[in-house]
Amino acid sequence: MSDTMRAVTLHDFGNADALKLETVPKPVPRDGEVLVRIRAAGINPIDFKTRDGVGINRRWDGEFPFPVILGWDISGEVVESRSPDYTPGDEIYTMARFPLIGGAYAEFATVPAEQIAPKPASISHAEAAAVPLAALTSWQAMFDTAGLQAGQRVLVHAAAGGVGHLAVQIAKAKGAWVAGTASARNEDFVRGLGVDQFVDYGAGDFTGAVDPVDMVFHTIDAEFRPKSWQVVKPGGWLVSITGPVTPDEAKSHNGKGTMILVTPNAAQLRDIGQLIDDGKVKITLDGVYPLDKTADAHRHVEGGHTRGKVVIDIDG
Ligand SMILES: NC(=O)c1ccc[n+]([C@@H]2O[C@H](COP(=O)([O-])OP(=O)(O)OC[C@H]3O[C@@H](n4cnc5c(N)ncnc54)[C@H](OP(=O)(O)O)[C@@H]3O)[C@@H](O)[C@H]2O)c1
Repeated sequence: MSDTMRAVTLHDFGNADALKLETVPKPVPRDGEVLVRIRAAGINPIDFKTRDGVGINRRWDGEFPFPVILGWDISGEVVESRSPDYTPGDEIYTMARFPLIGGAYAEFATVPAEQIAPKPASISHAEAAAVPLAALTSWQAMFDTAGLQAGQRVLVHAAAGGVGHLAVQIAKAKGAWVAGTASARNEDFVRGLGVDQFVDYGAGDFTGAVDPVDMVFHTIDAEFRPKSWQVVKPGGWLVSITGPVTPDEAKSHNGKGTMILVTPNAAQLRDIGQLIDDGKVKITLDGVYPLDKTADAHRHVEGGHTRGKVVIDIDG
């Protein structure tokens, strides 16, 4: 087998043109890792933010390890294993190494076995690559952080987006009452996800439109937080994934609030995979691009109006 592979690399921060298709050394797994032949890779907003120099790179304190292969969401097949838990041929999906370098825009990546889970059998690799980062974020915000329970009420912002379209379905599957915001063009789509209430954010102030909720899942710009707080019940939660919430801010609104950063979790990926295989969560793909069009996939997501997810088909 060749010891090189095709990958999309980034040698310096910049716009989508900074992404280059190159031939690079194939990575070698260490103890506890597997080598995955990547079949599809998911694109998330953190990918283009990092490419621009305003994403996860900020944790490196100016020492970002260029050249890097961006991307964290992977669906593929184990081809070499240095873990007792996986054998060659296993089909897996993962959010690899987040917030370190994931290396998903490539034909192969090494991934710690503890971060991977079996690919949901009922969906394609392209669909599976759309899931990990967005679904884990939803799970960790709604259940680990806000403790959302069956019968409680949640408002999911950007319900048509990558995170939102999965959050709505996951919350519904767990028995919550769900409202979702999107523009009017996405009304049918968001209703089709199962929301109990659709809110057109273009129709004016949503605060009067939604009765108080136990949790707001804040997936949109921080500037909308003051309005979002107005629909949180006293003592309820605002969980942000787009900007820090100070204890003082939460206290001044008589609620609980925090920002979370998603972390790898194989057990949660298994639970999410079960919901998918049970038919309770469906994946919507807004775009599937071949590896040499990764820059176009970035531009698509940067547009800010993705319906569902955008993925790279590595063999496409
Ligand atoms: N902290 C973390 O761990 C974490 C994890 C995942 C994501 N994030 C962040 O969360 C944000 C959302 O991620 P994503 O993957 O869901 O992004 P995305 O897929 O790009 O979101 C696109 C969606 O946003 C909707 N939208 C835009 N403006 C809106 C508004 N004012 N109100 C309601 N909906 C609006 C659009 O709907 P219309 O087309 O109808 O306008 C579109 O469907 C990003 O900033 C991302 O970086 C953070």
